[in-house]
Amino acid sequence: MAEVAVFGYGTVGSGVVEVIDKNAELMKSRGADMHVKYVLDIRDFPGDPNSSKLVKDVDVILNDPEISVVCETMGGATFAYEYSKKALEKGISVCTSNKELVEAKGAELMAIAREHSCSYLFEASVGGGIPLIRTINDALTAERIDRIYGILNGTTNYILTKMDEDGAGFDEVLKEAQEKGYAEKDPTADIEGHDACRKIAILASLVSGKKVSWTDIETEGITNIDTEDFSYAKELGCSIKLIAMCDFNEGCSARVSPRLITADSPLNCVKGVFNGVLIHSDMLDDSLYYGRGAGKLATASAVVADAFECVRFAGQEVGRGWTDEALKLNDPGDMKGRFFVRVDNANADEAADKLGAEKVIKHDKESGLVSAVMSETEFKKILEGLAGVIKFIRF
Ligand code: NDP
Ligand code: HSE
Repeated sequence: MAEVAVFGYGTVGSGVVEVIDKNAELMKSRGADMHVKYVLDIRDFPGDPNSSKLVKDVDVILNDPEISVVCETMGGATFAYEYSKKALEKGISVCTSNKELVEAKGAELMAIAREHSCSYLFEASVGGGIPLIRTINDALTAERIDRIYGILNGTTNYILTKMDEDGAGFDEVLKEAQEKGYAEKDPTADIEGHDACRKIAILASLVSGKKVSWTDIETEGITNIDTEDFSYAKELGCSIKLIAMCDFNEGCSARVSPRLITADSPLNCVKGVFNGVLIHSDMLDDSLYYGRGAGKLATASAVVADAFECVRFAGQEVGRGWTDEALKLNDPGDMKGRFFVRVDNANADEAADKLGAEKVIKHDKESGLVSAVMSETEFKKILEGLAGVIKFIRF
């Protein structure tokens, strides 16, 4: 039997314990016999059924020769990094949901794992319970992936869906997402797009084999989206989603921003905490991945599936990652698309003319225009010369 330790007994960590407890027999029948021996946390959990497993000193776990797998669900890139590194150096595999750490130190931790014949796996770090990493690593190995485009943050998709469908207020829905355990400890990472950005950086690194840094990706969150935007979106037959994308057609371009998504896109139907990701590759064409992008059991399931792999392939490294060599991204100004622009009525005709607008929606005091296809640089240059612009959203 493989003894497992869980670092961090919060939303995901408590889910990991629950999944292993509930499905231990099933997983045993499939080839991996697992048992949770320790749970590390700084907090006390009086009356919790697993309180006998709780420890506060990480060395108790790292010095126990019975431990072969750690599930790191603490979050952050300081203690989680230190503890994960120490575990790997002892030949203990680490499975994590911590995208901040995977994005920042993934290459280094995977190299340490390789050196010590164990694994650093991170399925749950992108797309919650959706098996995206394994799909890219295993199922799509005969494919040249040229584009990834999708909804990679459950909290913001939950907020946008509630604002759109129920007319709910931003702050009220964010609070709900926090109560449901979807949001990051500091939800700024969700609403400003940093979390989705780290996830697309991880996917771009996996596809390219080189390190893509999230700080190199132009990112815009959802805090500027308001009810008027949803009203225009409806009139255009669209929804508004926070989209993370990377494109490998010529070099690598990447961006995170809110976008208007047309009704014929499968991403239009991705609602609430669900994530949806379209991968385009040369042989398969489009493939779509959909499921819960956050939440206790969905995320924990992905962490435990990684632990299962580590147990089944004990003594060897499982998975494929990337090196520390940096991948230089293309100038984001070269990316082409259409833009939805809100402008006051006094300047709407001029804006429509200069932007080659195909469609104009008139409201009381302002209008919404959809521009012709152009590069970001071209668009911003035109925008600088226009008066009365309220905002723009990408298509
Ligand atoms: P929580 O805050 O619910 O859980 C983290 C737990 O770890 C807390 O109990 C925390 O204690 C504890 N902890 C923090 N630092 C230490 C430490 N140094 N030593 C011991 N225990 C520590 O977070 P989540 O479960 O939501 O998230 C965990 C990770 O998973 C994060 O990286 C997150 O981004 C990621 N993730 C989360 C998802 C979700 O749906 N929630 C989905 C996918 C990934 P305290 O509260 O006192 O700080
Ligand atoms: N806060 C993240 C989200 C958790 O809402 O998607 C899952 O990574």
